Amino acid sequence: MNGPNRADELERLSRLYAGFAADEARAECPIYERLAFGVSESDPLREFLAALPAASRQPNLFFAAVRHLHGVPDDAAALAAVVAADGPRIARLMLSRTTQTNEPARCAVLLPLLAQLPQPLALLEVGASAGLCLLPDRYGYDYGAVRLDPPAAAAPVFPCAVSGPAPLPRTVPDIVWRRGLDLNPLDIASDGDIAWLETLVWPGQDARLRKLRAALAIARNDRPEVVRGDLLVDLPRLMASAPGNATLVVFHTAVLAYVRPRERRSRFAAAMRGSAAVWISNEAPAVFPDLVTGAPPAPAPGRFLLMQDGVPLAWTAAHGQALDWFGPR
Ligand SMILES: C[S@@+](CC[C@H](N)C(=O)[O-])C[C@H]1O[C@@H](n2cnc3c(N)ncnc32)[C@H](O)[C@@H]1O
Repeated sequence: MNGPNRADELERLSRLYAGFAADEARAECPIYERLAFGVSESDPLREFLAALPAASRQPNLFFAAVRHLHGVPDDAAALAAVVAADGPRIARLMLSRTTQTNEPARCAVLLPLLAQLPQPLALLEVGASAGLCLLPDRYGYDYGAVRLDPPAAAAPVFPCAVSGPAPLPRTVPDIVWRRGLDLNPLDIASDGDIAWLETLVWPGQDARLRKLRAALAIARNDRPEVVRGDLLVDLPRLMASAPGNATLVVFHTAVLAYVRPRERRSRFAAAMRGSAAVWISNEAPAVFPDLVTGAPPAPAPGRFLLMQDGVPLAWTAAHGQALDWFGPR
C-alpha cells in the first residue's frame, strides 16, 4: 500500500488507537492507555498494523497477542522493540485469534431485564464465546441498594453501580433451557482457549480475572452448550429448538460490532423484531445508530446501549460494572 491510501490507513489507525486510549482504556487500564496512545503516534507500529487485514487491527487483539507471547511491555518504545524482533509471530497469532473476551459480569446489566420477563426463560445467546453469560442464575450481584447472594460460596459476585430507576431484581431468573451460538466457540476444556481468554482480561484487573476463573469453574461443572454457527444463518434453527413452554430470549453483548457491514446488522435487527422472541441487545451505540436516537446522551465514553426489542432502556459500562437506567421504572 502506498500514496494517499496508505496515509489514510495510518491516520485511521491513529484515530482507532487514540480513541481506544481515551474512551476505553483510560478509566480501566493505564498501561493500555499509554500503549494505545503510543501506537497512535508510532510510524513503525502503525505500519505493522496496516499490513494486517482491517478486522485484525484492533487494540485489544494486538495487546493481547503481544502479552500472550512476551508479557506486557512497559511503554510504547518497548512495544515497538518487541514488534521489531518478533513481528511475524505476533501477526500470526493476531490472524489465528479474535477478541473473544467472555465477560460474565455483563450478566449484571442483563439481569434486571431477564428477571422482569414471564418465567421460566429459554436463553439463547448469539456471540456467546465460552458461554459464561448463559449462566446469570449461577452468580451473585451487588447493585448497592440490592444484593443477590450467589447460590454457591465460590461463585463470583458482580458489583454494578446503578443510577436511575432501574427495576433491580430480587431473585435470579428461572432458566430452563440455554444455548449459545458463536462463529468460534471457545472450549472451556482447552488449556489454549482458557489461556487466551485470560490474556484478554486487561493487565492489573486482578479482581476481574479472579471472577472469570470462578465463573469458568462453575461452567466446567455445568457446561452451557455453545453451537458453532453464524447469527445471520443459524439462529432460526436454534430458536426452533427452544422449548415452547418458556419465554424465549435472544440476547447478545459486545458482538454486533463484529458483524459488518452495517447492512448485515440491520438484517439481523429486522429478523429479531419480526420474531416472537424477546430480543435483548447490549452493544456499542454505533452498532444500531438508528435506535440510539431514543436515548439520552451517554454519561461516560465507551458506554454500551441496553435495549429490549429495539427500545433503548439504559447505558451500561462495557464490562457490566455500571447501569445508568433511563427507561421506565
Ligand atoms: C467480544 S466477544 C463477546 C462474548 C460474550 N458475548 C460476552 O459478552 O462476554 C464477541 C463474540 O462474538 C462472536 N461473533 C462475532 N460475529 C459473530 C457472528 N456473525 N455469529 C456468531 N458469533 C459471532 C465472536 O466469535 C466472539 O466470540
